[in-house]
Amino acid sequence: MRKEKGKKQPTWRVFSLKELHAATNNFNYDNKLGEGAFGSVYWGQLWDGSQINQLLPYGDYLQIAVKRLKVWSDKAEMEFSVEVEILARVRHKNLLSLRGYCAEGQERLIVYDYMPNLSLLSHLHGHHSAECLLDWNRRMNIAIGSAEGIAYLHHHATPHIIHRDIKASNVLLDADFKAQVADFGFAKLIPDGATHVTTTVKGTLGYLAPEYAMLGKASESCDVYSFGILLLELATGKRPLEKLSSSMKRTITNWALPLACEGRLSELADPQLNGKYEDVELKRVVFVALICAHSRPEKRPTMLEVVELLKGDSKEKFAVIENDELFKSQPANDNDGPAADDGSDFIWEEREPKQVAKELQV
Ligand SMILES: Nc1ncnc2c1ncn2[C@@H]1O[C@H](COP(=O)(O)OP(=O)(O)OP(=O)(O)O)[C@@H](O)[C@H]1O
Ligand SMILES: [Mg+2]
Repeated sequence: MRKEKGKKQPTWRVFSLKELHAATNNFNYDNKLGEGAFGSVYWGQLWDGSQINQLLPYGDYLQIAVKRLKVWSDKAEMEFSVEVEILARVRHKNLLSLRGYCAEGQERLIVYDYMPNLSLLSHLHGHHSAECLLDWNRRMNIAIGSAEGIAYLHHHATPHIIHRDIKASNVLLDADFKAQVADFGFAKLIPDGATHVTTTVKGTLGYLAPEYAMLGKASESCDVYSFGILLLELATGKRPLEKLSSSMKRTITNWALPLACEGRLSELADPQLNGKYEDVELKRVVFVALICAHSRPEKRPTMLEVVELLKGDSKEKFAVIENDELFKSQPANDNDGPAADDGSDFIWEEREPKQVAKELQV
């Protein structure tokens, strides 16, 4: 694995299409890591690593992930380069680094560092889940690390950035299982002083804050909501939306909240953990997750507070959360009400907020 010895190196550049064809073996199917809403991602290698980071020893190579965007309009040309250049300058230990981009003809590609342990999704529900590589300690580090990455986007990046698509496939894991939040590249950049931007809804069902789904108002607190869902998923191993039957879906919060209210925390822990977890930390994660996923945005903490809370640095704030009315009298019920079933976990950009709200029945 490549080690970065230096600090603040200019570590991104513009790539040619020819180079990226060579790096990915012509976007070979065997190199494909997966496919998302915006295109396909391919594994590749750059033989002359020195072109991208002077500190790599001569002859070493860099493993990269190349996202090839599908459907791109000519109008977006300038915005693409400007936005990616800004994002490429955002550096944080828990944010996936952009290595550069390519914009030639109709092709738009983004180059990232390759993450050898892939995504959190693959460990929780995918082909790595049987290996049980995520012990409790790793999960806590992933929870805190990803919270720190998002807190950086919200509070320290200039301009401030709302992610808008926080979910398990967008939290990647490096060789040491350190969390790297990915795909903030498609977030809208928030001008200073603005509290929210109204946009068409973009995101993934199960992670969407209700006010965002209904009104299309993206703000930091929508990311906090999605992060709450992600935290619950990390602790419980459950999916954000679980299919109970062909027409019934249960949200992770509908399942977890009553159990949390009754203090039945051991029933919430991911069975894959085999009971090996810290009681105090599990409780902290579950309560913080549920308050993050509160239906009223003003009740949600900021990501800076979430970091403090998860680290256990803020006992008083945690006590306030624990005593919140949200956790009073929610009887556990194994058959929670039906949720919408549209057969897809994706909300496409063309779909207007009202339509999304209808589908979610919120
Ligand atoms: N740098 C990377 N290293 C390793 N795997 C990656 C990298 N970037 C993306 N992937 C994986 O490739 C797959 C496709 O990613 P992509 O971002 O296109 O889709 P997604 O995360 O499922 O959805 P979305 O389009 O909403 O982000 C995902 O499983 C993702 O975890
Ligand atoms: Mg992604």
